[in-house]
Amino acid sequence: YSNLCVCAVLVAEARRTYEEVFGGEAAKVAVCAPGRVNLIGEHTDYNHGFVLPMALPLVTVVVGSPASGQSVTVVTTAKDVEEPRRVDFNLPSYGSPLSPGSPGWANYVKGVVQHYRAPPVPGFRAVIATSVPLGGGLSSSASLEVAFYTSCSNDGDNVAKALACQLAEHTHASVPCGIMDQFVSVLGREAHALLIDCRSLVVTPVPLADPGLVILITNSNVKHSLTGSEYPTRRRQCEEAASILRKASLRDATLKDLEGTKNQMDDVTYRRARHVIEEIERTVQAAEALKRGAYREFGKLMVESHNSLRDLYEVSCRELDELVSAAMEVEGVFGSRMTGGGFGGCTVTLLQAHAIDRAILHIQERYSGSPTFYITVPSEGARVLSL
Ligand code: ADP
Ligand code: GAL
Repeated sequence: YSNLCVCAVLVAEARRTYEEVFGGEAAKVAVCAPGRVNLIGEHTDYNHGFVLPMALPLVTVVVGSPASGQSVTVVTTAKDVEEPRRVDFNLPSYGSPLSPGSPGWANYVKGVVQHYRAPPVPGFRAVIATSVPLGGGLSSSASLEVAFYTSCSNDGDNVAKALACQLAEHTHASVPCGIMDQFVSVLGREAHALLIDCRSLVVTPVPLADPGLVILITNSNVKHSLTGSEYPTRRRQCEEAASILRKASLRDATLKDLEGTKNQMDDVTYRRARHVIEEIERTVQAAEALKRGAYREFGKLMVESHNSLRDLYEVSCRELDELVSAAMEVEGVFGSRMTGGGFGGCTVTLLQAHAIDRAILHIQERYSGSPTFYITVPSEGARVLSL
C-alpha cells in the first residue's frame, strides 16, 4: 500500500507543477521507476558477478506529453539540484548528438534520450518528482533514467532499456557504473529480492516477504567527495587483476587462481580481487540462505561483506562503520552492511520485526551524525501509471 500511496502523492505533485508551467495543459502520461537497495553483492556487477538487490517503494515519477517538433522541456521538482530546475533543448539529430552540460541533473535525461533504442522520440514536455533521496546511494539517478526511458516507451524490451540507461550514466554522467541499479529499477518484483547474474543477465527472484522480518535502511547523510574518483579506480584495479589472471573478468577466477598469481600483483590489486571473488561466492550463498529462511546465516554473510568492503576493497568510511557496529549491538539484528558504492550513503540491516524500535533508538543514540531511517519492503519495478 505504501507503493500506491507514495506514487499517488508524487503524481499529484508532478501534475500540479506541469499545469503551472505549461499554462494549464494536462499531462497525458505518468510513469514511475524505483530506487534500490542492495542486500549483498557489492562491487561485483562490473566484474560480471552476482548481486542481490531489491527495488524500493521510493520512486521517481515522470509525467509528460508529446510536443510538436523537436523541442524538449523538462522540469524537476527536486529542491537540492543545480539551478535552473527547468531545461529546454532540441532532440539529437544525425551529426548533432546531445552532449552533457549544465545543469548537471539534466544530463541523465539527455543521456537517456541520446541512447533511446527505438527512434524517433517525439519532442516532449515533462515534470519529474521523486521520493528517492538524491545522492544517498539508493539510486535516484538510475530511477530517473529508467523512469524517463519508460515514459518514452514501455515496449517490453527490459534488458535493452536497462542497458541504454546504464550507457546514459556512462556517457552523460561520467560514472562507469555496472548494470545492477538500472536492472533492478526495471525488473524489481514485489515481495522479492533479485539474484542477478551480471554475466548472463539471468534474473532469479528470491521471495522476501516474511512478516517477522524487517529490512531497515539507514542513511548516514554523508557523501564523501572520494565517491566520484575512487569508483573508476576500483574498476581499473579489477580489470588489471583479471588481466594478470588471464581471465575475461574476476567472475571467472577462483581464490586458488588468485593465490597462484599473488606474486605477480601488488598488494592493493590482490586485496581488491580477493574481495570481489569472495563477495561473488557470498552472494550466491546468501541467496540460498534467504530461500531457506536462514536469516542468521544471511546476516553473518552481510557482516562479512561489510568487513571485506572496509578492509580489502576500502570503500567504507567511519560513518558507515559506526552505523553497522551500532546495529550489530542490538538483539534481534541478523546482519548489517554498507550498501551501494560506498564512501557514505546508506547501510542496510536485516532484523526481527519486534526489534525495530530498539534498533532505531540505539543506532540514533550511537551514531555521531544524524541518520534517516527507512523501514522498507521489496517493490515492483518501473511501470506506467493510469492518470
Ligand atoms: P544516487 O543515484 O545514489 O542517488 P548519484 O550521485 O549517482 O546518487 O545521483 C544523484 C544525482 O542524480 C543528483 O545529484 C541529480 O543530478 C540527479 N537526480 C536524481 N534524481 C533527480 C530528480 N528527481 N530530479 C533531478 N535530478 C535528479
Ligand atoms: C553503484 C553502481 C553499481 C554498483 C555499486 C557497487 O554506485 O552504480 O553499478 O557497482 O555501486 O556495488
